[in-house]
Amino acid sequence: MHQTILILDFGSQYTQLIARRVRELEVYCEIRPCTDRCPEVIPDSWVGVILSGGPASVLGADAPPFDSRWLDLPLPLLGVCYGMQLLAHTLGGAVGRGTSREYGPAEIRLESAPGPIFADFAADSAHSVWMSHGDHVDRVPPGWRVAARSGEVVAAMTDGQTRFGLQFHPEVVHSVQGKDLIRRFVKDVCGARGDWTAGRFVDEQVGRLRAQIGDAQVVCGLSGGVDSSVVAALLRKAIGDRVHCIFVDNGLCRQGEVESVEKEFSDYSLTVVRAADRFLDALNGVSDPERKRKIIGEVFVRVFEEEARKIPNARFLAQGTLYPDVIESVSVRGPSATIKSHHNVGGLPERMELSLVEPLRELFKDEARAVGETLGLSPQRVWRQPFPGPGLAVRCLGDLSKTRLDTLRKADAIVRDEVAAAGLERSIWQAFAVLLPVRSVGVMGDERTYEETCVVRAVNSTDGMTADWVHLPYDLLGRISSRIINEVRGINRVVYDISSKPPATIEWE
Ligand code: XMP
Repeated sequence: MHQTILILDFGSQYTQLIARRVRELEVYCEIRPCTDRCPEVIPDSWVGVILSGGPASVLGADAPPFDSRWLDLPLPLLGVCYGMQLLAHTLGGAVGRGTSREYGPAEIRLESAPGPIFADFAADSAHSVWMSHGDHVDRVPPGWRVAARSGEVVAAMTDGQTRFGLQFHPEVVHSVQGKDLIRRFVKDVCGARGDWTAGRFVDEQVGRLRAQIGDAQVVCGLSGGVDSSVVAALLRKAIGDRVHCIFVDNGLCRQGEVESVEKEFSDYSLTVVRAADRFLDALNGVSDPERKRKIIGEVFVRVFEEEARKIPNARFLAQGTLYPDVIESVSVRGPSATIKSHHNVGGLPERMELSLVEPLRELFKDEARAVGETLGLSPQRVWRQPFPGPGLAVRCLGDLSKTRLDTLRKADAIVRDEVAAAGLERSIWQAFAVLLPVRSVGVMGDERTYEETCVVRAVNSTDGMTADWVHLPYDLLGRISSRIINEVRGINRVVYDISSKPPATIEWE
């Protein structure tokens, strides 16, 4: 068992960020709903507890029920924002009501003897933090002392031993020395050594997968994306040729994508199913976004199932499920989960009576990437930008046809090519082209043109839930525009999408 920090989630939008900060220190952590009961006997592997922030007020009727025995455990404790107020409220301090909960920059100053988590902070300077302006601690619990203030507000408190409260958010980058605080808590106070590395993960998973799978055969749906590629590589290492990868060429892939999967996985047991015609026949003339998604999902399941049934003795289906998909939390999920129906291998395991293998269930995306690197996947694969399951279909607005998809494919290749040439590929979350069924008049040479419009979209995001449009340099936009108009027949106008999410979404459909 790895040494474990437990994070009790009170619903903050930043809870996963706390977990990622802990994992960056090579320390394993788990997020649990704050409503979980404290076990009678705690595992030896637990080394500390973090109470996250949350939208409720400890004084309000909406405060989630909480088993206060969590605070009696003989483990170091760090309360962040709501977590700190909960400590104060439960342990005999006093909390004052704020009018609303907002986040913003603030400066804190340390009191004397602020405790070991502030060891890296200069004693007599001001420090920038990201503060939650909600309820505040009016009086610290008996035996505790104020560790830092922001103006008159208690910004941090400690019991002088292993328990701490922070009114601000150390996990966000705007808290300049926030990472130091978390490191000091995790490493020094909890004594976590850092035994959670990609190399060890691979070794342990290989053992676990061998034990789970025995001598059975495994089917793995390979999409070419990071997650399924890492799953395939892990299984390959664990069980060799008994993992059978299926890649469905649905005709909605980007330029060069099918070939790059065939090349990178050439020595795997890989089947590339050429099913573009089946998808395009089913999609012919369909323009409604939800219908497109539904049809693609249905055809995918049919094609995949037909192929998977050809593998004798297949008993398992491998999937690239990541930790954020399995966290059972009280967090308020972004609206996008319900705005667009996402495409996956819906219902397949049950229909085929396959058991699931999900070796990445404990990993965040950046950890899955590190594992991919350890397993020797190519940097292009490991650092690939997210690409939606329904592929170019949701970027080709209006009626789908092979001609229009080919036009979009060419324009998209130019966008990606130029973004990569500018060295921006890794720093941008997603950059791509969208084809609109909107024609406008143009002139090329002496000829009048009447062709469609290409949208260039580039966004930055940390998890796809929210996103900001990227301020691409004008000269880069200029190069993209002139190359698309000169090189791609069917497009005579290029526009740049300057909408963020919310209120827009990343994809256009
Ligand atoms: P939206 O458009 O909802 O996208 O802002 C958020 C993120 O999800 C990706 N996306 C999908 N991924 N299947 C996927 O696997 C889908 O159906 C799908 N739709 C959107 C999108 O590219 C962005 O990263």
